[in-house]
Amino acid sequence: MKNYEDRVAVITGVNGQDGSYLADMLLAKGYTVIGLKRRTSSISTTRIDHLFNHPKFKMYHFDLTDGSAISHIIMTHKPDEFYNLAAQSHVAVSFDIPEYTSDGIASGTLKILEAIRTLSPNTRFYQASSSEMFGDSEDYDEKCGYTENSIMMPVSPYAVAKLHAHHMTRVYRNAYGLHASSGILFNHESPRRGETFVTRKITMAAARIKMGLQSELRLGNIDALRDWGYAEDYVEAMWLMLQQPEGDDYVIATQKTHSVREFLDAVFEEAGLDWNKYVVIDPKYFRPNEVPFLLGDPSKAKRVLGWKPKVDMKLLAKIMYKYDAALLTKQMQGSAPALVE
Ligand code: NAP
Ligand code: GDD
Repeated sequence: MKNYEDRVAVITGVNGQDGSYLADMLLAKGYTVIGLKRRTSSISTTRIDHLFNHPKFKMYHFDLTDGSAISHIIMTHKPDEFYNLAAQSHVAVSFDIPEYTSDGIASGTLKILEAIRTLSPNTRFYQASSSEMFGDSEDYDEKCGYTENSIMMPVSPYAVAKLHAHHMTRVYRNAYGLHASSGILFNHESPRRGETFVTRKITMAAARIKMGLQSELRLGNIDALRDWGYAEDYVEAMWLMLQQPEGDDYVIATQKTHSVREFLDAVFEEAGLDWNKYVVIDPKYFRPNEVPFLLGDPSKAKRVLGWKPKVDMKLLAKIMYKYDAALLTKQMQGSAPALVE
């Protein structure tokens, strides 16, 4: 294996939550990072603005639906590692735009795998698989949760597309001997989390309510249970997967599950407020199908990768609330910081 300083890694979706943390981590190790992002009419680089002057960071435009752009990148750079993090990643939105979601996640991943197979077969590949693939499967142990071998019963267009990409990754690993790994990551959050996911929506609202800028918070199903971890911990697991002798599948989770209600408790306690006074249940946020419960068993990752989670839900809620409260204070003083803590 090459020294880190000689390695080139490609990250799709580099401007997303995970892409930005992974780019930070790989650059700190000495990698050259090729970050890929789709073109948007408004600037969407807040999470990576601090990287643009880094001598080993380059950014190019691409789109998961554009096979020729993907092939060109792989042919030109022949990367040592390729992390496929790009996706239309909002589960509820996938019911509104199922074809686009599927084209990007399912067909887009296949385009990348084919390009690696034909143009750069030594490239190690990481696929961002998701706990959402378990859907409403009852194939789990109540204490330990879902494993890599649990039956998957996806209940959203997003999850079906992710399952297609997950199986395709395994097929390319077994059929062609590619070093291809799937990280079945359970929900992971951070101050860089997108503002429409429930944790960030809650921490931002609590900060605004505390400062008198908002009077209610409209939410959907607050009884849903999720296994929430910290994004920075989880990108380390992605990297560890690509350092193993062979590709494989790994569950990455905290092995603790909490309801949205409990997350509300933790955040509003931090803010010194009672969420019951502000939260309004709005059917607009109910989904046509819901994943009621997620709990992951990361035993294999612990055993093989030596990985373990470092941040629990309460600490996560505290980190995110404190960040949003500080961000809001600075915005009100007219000096908003970049979205990098
Ligand atoms: P995120 O913040 O939503 O980032 C997704 C990235 O994909 C963004 O850069 C987005 O660009 C880009 N993207 C969307 N559609 C694209 C397209 N058609 N072509 C090219 N780029 C496109 O998601 P994340 O939380 O970092 O998650 C990273 C990956 O892990 C995703 O694949 C997600 O599905 C998966 N995952 C996430 C979690 C989690 O809890 N965070 C758990 C399991 C799996 P824009 O900024 O322009 O939208
Ligand atoms: N987004 C959102 N907004 N979710 C809400 C709301 C709301 O106003 N109110 C309740 N919820 C509930 C959702 O119905 C869901 O049960 C739970 O909160 C979590 O929703 P999200 O934060 O949107 O995450 P997700 O679990 O649907 O999907 C995330 O995790 C997956 C891994 O399990 C995303 O990051 C996916 O990309 C990822 O694959």
